[in-house]
Amino acid sequence: MDKPINVCGLVGSLRKASFNGMLANALISLAPPSMKLEIVEIGQLPLYNEDLETASPPAQWTMFRRRVKAADAVLFVTPEYNRSVPAALKNVLDVGSRPYGSSVWDRKPGAIVSASPGAIGAFGANHHLRQSLVFLNVPTMQQPEAYIGHVDKLFDEHGKLMSDGTGKFLREFMQAFANWVERVDRGAGASDGLRQVRASAASG
Ligand code: FNR
Repeated sequence: MDKPINVCGLVGSLRKASFNGMLANALISLAPPSMKLEIVEIGQLPLYNEDLETASPPAQWTMFRRRVKAADAVLFVTPEYNRSVPAALKNVLDVGSRPYGSSVWDRKPGAIVSASPGAIGAFGANHHLRQSLVFLNVPTMQQPEAYIGHVDKLFDEHGKLMSDGTGKFLREFMQAFANWVERVDRGAGASDGLRQVRASAASG
């Protein structure tokens, strides 16, 4: 079997009892065997400041950039703050986009799950995020869309997903995402596909 698709999961909420965090954990187990999702912490990243973009930028930035660069794909799981993404998530986009010409996002296949206790499932955040991802050249899966409303009703006190219907939808979403990554990879033009190119670049 091929190496699983290595997916970097970025959660827009920093709070311990985050529903989006619970959702991201559920997605780890709902991903198909061909995909390995790992959540990367973003709360410790210093706010982007061009003055710090020197020969020795903050170590957290460097580690984060390396981690995303090594990933085959990126999955955003985000709440909505004031009809946009939380600042912590916008910060990772900015940190990953620099230094100019070395963006870690370029051509990295992506997908978005947004969630809110509200009825419209953080639709605004989902689409604001898409605006940045267009500029960052992240080929972002369009269908199925995932706006998870009433997310506060979906988990038990241990953070376990209780809704079979949502579980089924998210499982299908992750399978579609795996298919999307393979499709983007194959369409990249490199005869070996982007994942192979990335794997050989990482090994030598
Ligand atoms: C919110 N919340 C919120 N919800 C929403 O559906 N649309 C919005 O625009 C906002 N705006 C907003 C701003 C700020 C600053 C906060 C703190 C919260 C509510 C939000 O959806 C709720 O707190 C979620 O539980 C946050 O997600 P996590 O932390 O549970 O993952």
